[in-house]
Amino acid sequence: MRILTLQDYDGWMAVWRAAGLTSIRPLGRDSRDAFARQLAGGTHTLIGAEVDGDLAGVVLVTHDGRKGWLNRLAVAPAYRHLGLAARLVGEAERVLQAEGIKVYAALIEPGNEPSLRLFKKLGYVEAEAGMHYVSKRPGPDA
Ligand SMILES: CC(C)(COP(=O)(O)OP(=O)(O)OC[C@H]1O[C@@H](n2cnc3c(N)ncnc32)[C@H](O)[C@@H]1OP(=O)(O)O)[C@@H](O)C(=O)NCCC(=O)NCCS
Repeated sequence: MRILTLQDYDGWMAVWRAAGLTSIRPLGRDSRDAFARQLAGGTHTLIGAEVDGDLAGVVLVTHDGRKGWLNRLAVAPAYRHLGLAARLVGEAERVLQAEGIKVYAALIEPGNEPSLRLFKKLGYVEAEAGMHYVSKRPGPDA
């Protein structure tokens, strides 16, 4: 497990693509320039899991001073079921704890049973049924 830097950009984007994440926006908030700004801001941390020098898993950890968010947790298919995602979540919580953040959250798309089971196993509790996620954005690439 190690903290990633902008030099790892191509590697973590490759993991996200291999993992089939549909939410990545390489022209918007996931561009290299966008990450340069985000990582410089002090509220974003990327953690990587390496196996024999290969980047196998990634999680993007953010906080707003009140709550911590685990975003874009992904493990490349060849490295699944080894406990890497669970370890990444543990590292994310440690990073947030060190920042004084005590509440951790993640958004999981409907039907993503592996992710839901993972978080529940790690002690996360699902919000009450009917909770709605709303967002406002300037366009599909943002
Ligand atoms: C979800 C994901 C990150 C899990 O990665 P992983 O490294 O294989 O997970 P782990 O080995 O740490 O598994 C820990 C626990 O998660 C749950 N889990 C993981 N994969 C699972 C699967 N395919 N089906 C059901 N439960 C699963 C299990 O409870 C597992 O514990 P167990 O091994 O004792 O049964 C991975 O499947 C992935 O990258 N998926 C695509 C991207 C994604 O959906 N990310 C989540 C965004 S919210």
